[in-house]
Amino acid sequence: MERLTVAIDGPAGAGKSSAARLVAKRLGYLYIDTGAMYRAFTWAMLQEKIDIGDAEAVRALTERIDIRLEPLEDKCRVFVGEREVTDAIRTQDISSRVSSVSALAVVREKLVQLQRNMAEGGGVILDGRDIGTVVLPKADLKIFLTASVESRARRRYLEVQAKGGTETLEDIAASIASRDDMDSHRAVSPLRQADDAILLDNSELNLEETADAITDLIQQRCR
Ligand code: DC
Repeated sequence: MERLTVAIDGPAGAGKSSAARLVAKRLGYLYIDTGAMYRAFTWAMLQEKIDIGDAEAVRALTERIDIRLEPLEDKCRVFVGEREVTDAIRTQDISSRVSSVSALAVVREKLVQLQRNMAEGGGVILDGRDIGTVVLPKADLKIFLTASVESRARRRYLEVQAKGGTETLEDIAASIASRDDMDSHRAVSPLRQADDAILLDNSELNLEETADAITDLIQQRCR
């Protein structure tokens, strides 16, 4: 079967990465988590104590940083140089800083180039915010995956509770709404549905159902 280039964009908490990972595993595609690359850059800035306002230091970091994704069958390991940061980039500290870092044009330029190189050859699913609009405007299939703020907050709340966290549902909903706002209103590559993307609202779907819907769209596109 033809091996497509698939772009999945959408707001935080819509379950893009879980669904993309599952679909990639089913179809033997590579899953490329572009959000992880912005997180890795943010991690490196913290590590090197680079202030977000220091344009020269940020630019210098874009020139020397070595961010690598090691896409396995069903997950994506993340490295900065030799250091594995797969788990270190998932902290609340990184989550609260990454939106501002990903709004910097110089950072996006660097990471978009890396993402295009990784997508060459097809058989890939990339998830992010600007894959269908900027990174791969000619992707074979573009999906805009979204869900209401309430259902995204509810899912995240259950995850937090399972890990023994104390954040309230209201706090989580407020933080999701604020990230949506920053990601959609930034000057460079804001989150927006590409004109030729298929809208998939999974407010009422679980992970399996979401993955089924995406798999169907890919298979239809291959016919
Ligand atoms: O998907 P995520 O939550 O791991 O993404 C982390 C941040 O990176 C999020 O605030 C938006 C940003 N991002 C982006 O600007 N462009 C992408 N292609 C992917 C993520």
